[in-house]
Amino acid sequence: MSGGHLAGKAIVVTGAGQGLGAAYARLAAAEGANVIVNDVDENHALSVARSIRADGGRAETAIGSVADWATAGAIVRSCIEAFGTIDGLVNNAGIFRLAHPSEQDPDEFRAVLEVNVLGTAYCGLHAIRAMLERGTGSIVNVTSGSHAGSAAMGAYGASKGAVASLTYCWAADLAGTGVRVNAVSPNAHTRMADTYEAYLGAAAQGQNVHKPPAQNAPAIVYLLSDASTSLHGQVVRIDGDELSMIAHPTVQGPGTRNPAWTVSSVAAAFGAGEVGPLSPVGLHRAPVE
Ligand SMILES: NC(=O)c1ccc[n+]([C@@H]2O[C@H](COP(=O)([O-])OP(=O)(O)OC[C@H]3O[C@@H](n4cnc5c(N)ncnc54)[C@H](O)[C@@H]3O)[C@@H](O)[C@H]2O)c1
Repeated sequence: MSGGHLAGKAIVVTGAGQGLGAAYARLAAAEGANVIVNDVDENHALSVARSIRADGGRAETAIGSVADWATAGAIVRSCIEAFGTIDGLVNNAGIFRLAHPSEQDPDEFRAVLEVNVLGTAYCGLHAIRAMLERGTGSIVNVTSGSHAGSAAMGAYGASKGAVASLTYCWAADLAGTGVRVNAVSPNAHTRMADTYEAYLGAAAQGQNVHKPPAQNAPAIVYLLSDASTSLHGQVVRIDGDELSMIAHPTVQGPGTRNPAWTVSSVAAAFGAGEVGPLSPVGLHRAPVE
């Protein structure tokens, strides 16, 4: 395919064997990109790559876990070997484990951090090094609204908070280099939504049921494309038909000062409502001014 918003670009999408990643890979290819479809599940990755080729696009697979440093390097290298370079990376691979803290399995907690945080960091570090050599590239990380606080999502929410922070930090590192890094906070009815519904049981309310993965893909392709060069260090939320921005952590000022704080004067300042405002737990909307 010669035209399109990603014409001729070489793009890696991790965890692209199903769900959101498959939708990103498909639209990227339809928009002219040469795509590396990564997944731990070889059959799923092969099937997505085959369907892209059947539709006239270019795609190869790179099988293996993003959570392994050497494999992450091999995934990025496979793009350079197959397509000559790497212009974009979508750090989409992720896993989901739900538990109340009183029952959380420590090995599951570790697994979530390894895939979601280290997997994102490892692929990103390899890609950044290759992109800096050419002074161009776009990385799209994947966070989640759950990082603002969500029941049963301690491990997952913490991992996605780390991904948001990684995005802000790398944006600071990469300012002015031509290599951009942004993040998305998507919503779709995928295997993850099934898991969440199964966990909630009767309380489930059709999580993201009318939000197909493909509805999220245009924003990801936009962030990968040269049309979004003004975006760096940003988190874009996609929720059904709505696009919005996630605010960065901020200091809510002005604060209150005391040259010699004591525990009592701290308590008095909170008691008088001088420190604040306090934040609600969970994702919320800032008031419209
Ligand atoms: N579905 C949503 O509403 C939603 C909301 C916020 C964030 N996200 C994030 O979007 C991303 C995709 O989610 P999804 O809903 O499509 O999930 P999914 O489970 O349908 O797909 C995830 C894919 O990642 C692959 N994967 C898992 N571990 C991997 C590893 N170590 N290395 C390579 N591939 C691996 C899986 O095999 C699977 O194909 C995840 O990072 C998820 O946290 C999803």
